[in-house]
Amino acid sequence: MRQDYLDDYFTFLRFPSISTDDAYTEKLAECAHWLVKKLKGIGLTTELVSTPGHPVVWARNKHQPGRKTVMIYGHYDVQPPDPLELWESPPFDPVLKNGYVFARGATDNKGQILAHILGLQETIAEQGDLPVNLHLVIEGEEEIGSGNLPGFLEKHRDSLGCDVVVVSDTGMIARGVPTLSYGLRGVTALELKVTGAKMDLHSGVFGGAVANSVTALARLLATLHDANGRVAIEGFYDDVKPLEDWEREAWRKLPIDGDKEILTETGSPALFGEEGYSTLERLWARPTAEINGIGGGYQGKGTKTVIASHAMAKLTFRLVPNQDGDKILQLAHKHLEKNLPPGVTMEITDGHSGPWYLTDPHSAFGEAAQSALKGAFKKDVALIREGGSIPIVSQFRDILGVETLLLGLAQADCRAHSPNENFPLENLEVGIKMNKAILAELAR
Ligand code: BES
Ligand code: ZN
Repeated sequence: MRQDYLDDYFTFLRFPSISTDDAYTEKLAECAHWLVKKLKGIGLTTELVSTPGHPVVWARNKHQPGRKTVMIYGHYDVQPPDPLELWESPPFDPVLKNGYVFARGATDNKGQILAHILGLQETIAEQGDLPVNLHLVIEGEEEIGSGNLPGFLEKHRDSLGCDVVVVSDTGMIARGVPTLSYGLRGVTALELKVTGAKMDLHSGVFGGAVANSVTALARLLATLHDANGRVAIEGFYDDVKPLEDWEREAWRKLPIDGDKEILTETGSPALFGEEGYSTLERLWARPTAEINGIGGGYQGKGTKTVIASHAMAKLTFRLVPNQDGDKILQLAHKHLEKNLPPGVTMEITDGHSGPWYLTDPHSAFGEAAQSALKGAFKKDVALIREGGSIPIVSQFRDILGVETLLLGLAQADCRAHSPNENFPLENLEVGIKMNKAILAELAR
């Protein structure tokens, strides 16, 4: 790996661009400015577009008639690094160990963006220009639902006209196996607050006389699933499109033992999920209801005999074709209201929402992506769906009328969103090749 590539990578990773926390707003701006400078440096016309949130970096080459126009999309924001004490080296002080770079964002999405940028850089250096018209859009709010990006797309819809979008923010099925993802789950979020008494109470003086908000919340949350892992919200599965036979067949033949890998990677004592589906089917083609956070009552050292006034939980639902996020939220509200135990009140606040995505991996663009992947990796391409979400991808279709090719470089053990996130330099290297190849394929 060239030293200047590593220098770029480490500089990019040193910005703590945590989009969810206002304390880092200035750091996101600095990170975006660094990208602008880097992209201008490789010869692209680049601007920083402000939004009501974090700015968008938008770079272009000189567009010429008669060429395909390609948009490359990624994000420079990252998830919070917490819990910090579980990191073996500081999250924003990247280190290279045994061929892997460790830092928050190493994979998701800075390493993968750098593969795009260096692929563009090498192509321009070798050919004087790119073989296609390019829009490179790098946003700073993907990890918080891309709330301001649809506005950017609408506002610049005419200038942003393109034939296809390329994204490298998804996974590889196994090390060294080129992977084209043709589906993403969607996600929709809500937060709930349960309140009992107007203040925290002495549990001896009042215990037994009034409802405990934490107990009520626990009982309520326990109604979300049945004992076999199926979501118990009425109507939740009504719009779920059954898996196609060809997909079930193809996923069975993928070169991995999904069950074994997930057990090893997660350290969970056993697999668990909705009955009647394989692990990959549950991850890629079935919806879920998850409790992402729960709180209430005394959490300090020792004991405190108290009945807490409030308890809260954060929920998200992963969505699959053809579920509708708003409808799922409505059904969830109804379920929570119906099952709220007596003696407490509840407030529900809806959060961000992003739709699922499903495209045809055998379209002309899909075939071009497969050729580029095969050329770069020298191996057969795995066709998969993903459990994760990239909210803006369905809007590329709705607003710009184009499909998205998801050519990810993330490995299952990359620890995205977890402590000790990492990215193998081998994937940066092959990612640069893949990016050069996809430009060439799309130009044909
Ligand atoms: N890169 C991920 C999405 C992803 C992960 C796709 C794994 C495929 C496989 C992305 O940065 C992400 O984490 N998205 C969030 C979106 C949410 C905050 C709206 C997600 O999926 O939780
Ligand atoms: Zn992410």
